[in-house]
Amino acid sequence: MLSETETTNNTMRAVVQTSYNGIQDLQIQTVAKPHLTPLSVMIQTKFTPVLPYDRMTEEGRLQQLRPTRLPLVVGYGFGGIVTAVGALRSRQLLGQAVIGAAPAGSHQEYINSQWPPLLFPVPAGVDLAAATTLIGGADAALMAVRQTRPTARDVVLITGASGGVGTYLVQLLKQRGATVVALARPENREWLLTLGADVVLDYTQDLPAALATAPTPTQVIDTVGSAALLDQISRTAGPLTIFSLSLPAYQPTKTAQAFRFGNGSVGLHDYQDLLAMLANGTLTSMIQTVLPFQQVREAQALGKTHHTHGRILLSY
Ligand SMILES: NC(=O)c1ccc[n+]([C@@H]2O[C@H](COP(=O)([O-])OP(=O)(O)OC[C@H]3O[C@@H](n4cnc5c(N)ncnc54)[C@H](OP(=O)(O)O)[C@@H]3O)[C@@H](O)[C@H]2O)c1
Repeated sequence: MLSETETTNNTMRAVVQTSYNGIQDLQIQTVAKPHLTPLSVMIQTKFTPVLPYDRMTEEGRLQQLRPTRLPLVVGYGFGGIVTAVGALRSRQLLGQAVIGAAPAGSHQEYINSQWPPLLFPVPAGVDLAAATTLIGGADAALMAVRQTRPTARDVVLITGASGGVGTYLVQLLKQRGATVVALARPENREWLLTLGADVVLDYTQDLPAALATAPTPTQVIDTVGSAALLDQISRTAGPLTIFSLSLPAYQPTKTAQAFRFGNGSVGLHDYQDLLAMLANGTLTSMIQTVLPFQQVREAQALGKTHHTHGRILLSY
């Protein structure tokens, strides 16, 4: 656990990145609380998702895509309760549970959301921790499903099916009627079948042999970013499109196969739809564990090791 300094009424604690040396240089610092402006919605943070994006930023691996200056507050997504609103924002938001994105950093006790498109009220009956997993999870999965347009005739193979994005991919693909082949560790097999996977293959053993027993994929959605893993799939498959969320470039082993890197976002209504699906039970969130934000290093180290089971959250 990281040591902390005392806070006052005007200060709060935040997880601060002070170098590009990775997890080890993260600090809990006392910083000024955000200032309320007419456009502000002030949120008391309750949960933030631990995303691979955080680790990549900390290691300086996103500098070309998203140049940053240090020190910076870590994190992207959040779930919390609205405690104050500026003069130009709706007072109906006061006390409302919300989820959202804070591109300038979310791992802090209070978040000042000044961009209405990045804040989404959580319907009554939806658990706030569950809703927080949509940010950087279901949204990315939905974007991938939109871009790949699977039909009921498709067999879609998902790499990283047990991850924060993969768990939603399994469900959203199933909703579209596709046959879902999930690659995961054997300990994740049962619950991935429950989520809707038709077949779960153990990628840690003889994957080509396992692939030979499964329906032949027509599409791959990759959330792992390993060219070696994609090579194994590509060699055993026929005509195929590979869509990766993690690997900007890859050359399939056969000419009848195509590769595409996917990036992008979904709209305001999509978040409302995803929240409604959580509310009516057609979508399930998988939370691996919730750790206090002071344990951010442990949480990120856990995310880095190969034992994913949905999303890790920090609590505040
Ligand atoms: N392009 C975009 O717009 C966008 C948006 C969101 C996320 N992403 C990217 O999507 C990726 C997945 O994100 P996430 O939040 O789902 O990550 P995550 O929760 O950490 O899950 C990672 C998954 O990859 C698996 N995995 C890791 N190493 C593996 C290997 N060598 N071989 C096979 N499987 C392996 C893990 O399974 P085990 O635990 O069994 O190892 C786990 O299922 C990240 O690269 C992230 O940056 C991209």
